[in-house]
Amino acid sequence: MKLLITGGAGYIGSHTTLELLNAGYEIVVVDNLCNSKEESLRRIQQLTGKSLVFYNVDLLDRKNLDTVFARESIESVIHFAGLKAVGESVKMPLDYYYNNITGTLNLCSIMSNYDIRTLIFSSSATVYGDPHTVPIKEDFPLNPTNPYGRTKFMIEEILKDLYNSDNRWNIALLRYFNPVGAHGSGRIGEDPNSTPNNLMPLIAQVAVGRGSILTVYGNDYPTPDGTGIRDYIHVVDLATGHLKTLNKIVKDPGFYIYNLGTGRGFSVLEVISAFEEISGKKIKYTIGERRSGDIAICYADPARANRELSWKTYFGINDMCVDMWRWQSLNPNGYE
Ligand code: NAD
Ligand code: WQD
Repeated sequence: MKLLITGGAGYIGSHTTLELLNAGYEIVVVDNLCNSKEESLRRIQQLTGKSLVFYNVDLLDRKNLDTVFARESIESVIHFAGLKAVGESVKMPLDYYYNNITGTLNLCSIMSNYDIRTLIFSSSATVYGDPHTVPIKEDFPLNPTNPYGRTKFMIEEILKDLYNSDNRWNIALLRYFNPVGAHGSGRIGEDPNSTPNNLMPLIAQVAVGRGSILTVYGNDYPTPDGTGIRDYIHVVDLATGHLKTLNKIVKDPGFYIYNLGTGRGFSVLEVISAFEEISGKKIKYTIGERRSGDIAICYADPARANRELSWKTYFGINDMCVDMWRWQSLNPNGYE
């Protein structure tokens, strides 16, 4: 089966592309490289010994996107491409709404023109906002608290409307919790084009000497050690979640929503301590103010994905730190 992977050069897209190539899929990647490098795709091909087709195309560029569909006999699409920095989305809401929503509208309308209706979409736990309780189930109320999260929420609504308008569409919304870690080879990993915003890459940068000190955003949350708790999921487990989802929806078409998380939460201090143990480095940190918009506790109930997709996570927090550290220490400057 030939798949189109939008955003396939990025962090989660590259890991998923690698697993899909290993599973025997033919892959076409569309990415405008606004937050990634083509080197990730070169390394995936090296690691798998298989080739893929790459188009440096922006989803906002309808004409060139259409050309990709005209040239390639695509059967299904996994849609990762989007802007994802919460803080930046608050400062540049129009860019976020335009890129993420218009990009998705272009993609879906071209898919429809070519009679392609199988789509897996990268949503986020951010659509739940501050949950009334944990673990979070898929039917919890949605209440995103920032423009980035609202783009995910709006796209989810658009895709639901699309499915309701025509049941030949076959759509899965995957709500990722906190993806971390890297491929076990240490050859591919997360390498954003600007400073990372997420905890694990920031810790890794301090460990490798690229950052001097980590600020822990608040230690007065109602959690055992006062710091925020999240459901960190190894990016390779997340990647296999996409393969399982594809198997499911190809066999049994419909409209599906799945949480992809481990179901276990770790605090900021627990993650720092795990990383210190694995890397043998002391992570210098200071306790700062709470970061605006942050919540105390967030972790998934992944039971639906476990049951319906026959998917479960294999990697624990130590594996996540080992693989993150391997990637960071072998590639201190990312793909440069
Ligand atoms: P990433 O930035 O590494 O990957 C996104 C890719 O999309 C990049 O390679 C970027 O160049 C590309 N892209 C962006 N806009 C594009 C456009 N208009 N046309 C073509 N390419 C475009 O991010 P990631 O962490 O791999 O995230 C992948 C998806 O998963 C995103 O949709 C993100 O919102 C979602 N997600 C990420 C996380 C996370 O913490 N990493 C959590 C939940 C959901
Ligand atoms: C984790 C914990 C912080 C940085 C974000 C997005 C979410 C999703 C995943 C895309 C929190 C604390 C962090 C630092 C810290 N992305 N922290 N010091 O905020 O749970 O989720 O990424 O969909 O939408 O919001 O992840 O890694 O930023 O933070 O103390 O320098 O680490 O307060 O408790 P978050 P994160």
